[in-house]
Amino acid sequence: MYDLLEEGVINPLKIQDNTFRDGHQSLLATRMRTDDMIPIAEKMDTVGFWAMEVWGGATFDTMHRFLGEDPFERIKTLKKYIKKTPFSMLLRGQNLVGYRNYADDVSKLFVDKSCEAGMDIFRVFDALNDFRNFQTVVERIKANGKHFQGTICYSLTERRMGGDVFNLKYYVEKAKEIERMGADTLCLKDMAGIMAPFDIAKLIIELKKEIGIPIHLHTHYTSGMASMVYLEAIKAGVDIIDTCLAPFGLRTSQPAVEPIVATLFGTTRDPGFDLNVLLELGDYIETVAPKYRDYLAKHRMSVIDTGVLAHQVPGGMISNLVSQLTEAKALDRLPEVYKEVAVTRRELGMPPLVTPTSQIVGVQAVLNVLFGRYKMVTNEVKDLVYGLYGKTPAPVDPDIQAKVLKNYKRGQTPVRGRAADYLEPELADAKQKIGSLARDEYDLLIFALYRQSGEQFLKWKYGLEARPQKIRAKTFEEIEKEDQALAAALKQVCLTI
Ligand code: CO
Repeated sequence: MYDLLEEGVINPLKIQDNTFRDGHQSLLATRMRTDDMIPIAEKMDTVGFWAMEVWGGATFDTMHRFLGEDPFERIKTLKKYIKKTPFSMLLRGQNLVGYRNYADDVSKLFVDKSCEAGMDIFRVFDALNDFRNFQTVVERIKANGKHFQGTICYSLTERRMGGDVFNLKYYVEKAKEIERMGADTLCLKDMAGIMAPFDIAKLIIELKKEIGIPIHLHTHYTSGMASMVYLEAIKAGVDIIDTCLAPFGLRTSQPAVEPIVATLFGTTRDPGFDLNVLLELGDYIETVAPKYRDYLAKHRMSVIDTGVLAHQVPGGMISNLVSQLTEAKALDRLPEVYKEVAVTRRELGMPPLVTPTSQIVGVQAVLNVLFGRYKMVTNEVKDLVYGLYGKTPAPVDPDIQAKVLKNYKRGQTPVRGRAADYLEPELADAKQKIGSLARDEYDLLIFALYRQSGEQFLKWKYGLEARPQKIRAKTFEEIEKEDQALAAALKQVCLTI
């Protein structure tokens, strides 16, 4: 019997808006400034979003490094305008808002100060889905009385959900583990946009039988399946989804909110939003978007990347591979690298491809193609194989393990404990090194997380060095040149898949 959502229990869909974080992170290199958010902040608060994602992910790095903005100030500022809607952030487990595991003392202080600044919901993930890497931050999130959203990074072993690693059982077991940790909600995070509509329906129906906490779905439009994924998920009973206002939606970002609201109008899952308010908000975004337009990838006519359906490499990772190959003057070898990514990933224990594992696998795959397999091995790969990031979803290939750990400074036998247990405390050292330049614990954290660029930022902040007037926008010629190289490389890939 086909379900038109016309009858039955009224169960309004909850929607989180990601315009101020993932939207511009996905499309515009995370460059949106707080000043451009303020004019619509109050109106955003009236929509009725379940939450607004305004922080975390790459925002912290980009803000202090490229925008000269204090990341903590953004939360405090937005909080003055957005009083009802809870704030959500993306927290990379023990990696916090950086690219490595930080010691427990840094992690604890980071969560405490984020709560103090105004953060309400913490979407916590680990790149290996090793939830031991959540323990420290979760303890502080709970102690502060905030919302812990436990996250599973969605990944695939084959074209569709199934196979020997990322199958239905894997996700159900991981979801139960998250519920046992005391999560308030569960997030399924599909960073690459590879989730297939009927797979998510199957997964949600199964999860609804096995766990009691609400399910929140996060996906990206990248491959073009996301709107279908959401519709199937909604029909299967998903509780919350992530969207963006249309100008910052679609492409490699989240699906746009407006068509979803229109689709669900009058159904049992109608979120009850005023479409006209959303249109006004979108019009405003259109007026500020041109400032950031140079960051938008526009090397192809298509707004979706159908290649992802075949190679499953996330969008952000593709641009890293391209720039690495461009530097090595070997962009023509991109098709080989795509194939190598799949092999290297399998050998390294099948990590989901998300920050930082996407970079770790990607860089190694490029080295394998350019210099021969594992002739050169990065320190990150050694650390990963040694166990310093946690437990990989599948075992590391024993031959590769022996090769990678040969002459490794820490030893040849991998460790099995919680990653951060192998780290020395960092705060006292950071405090001593930064001295009086850090005037409070917020400043101290900026330095502890990003030693070099953090110190530079604090010098700007306190006027010891002139803050750059503005970040130089690329010239039209520069963008054209990059676009051409990228277009040629992508054409090559399309011909060989
Ligand atoms: Co995302």
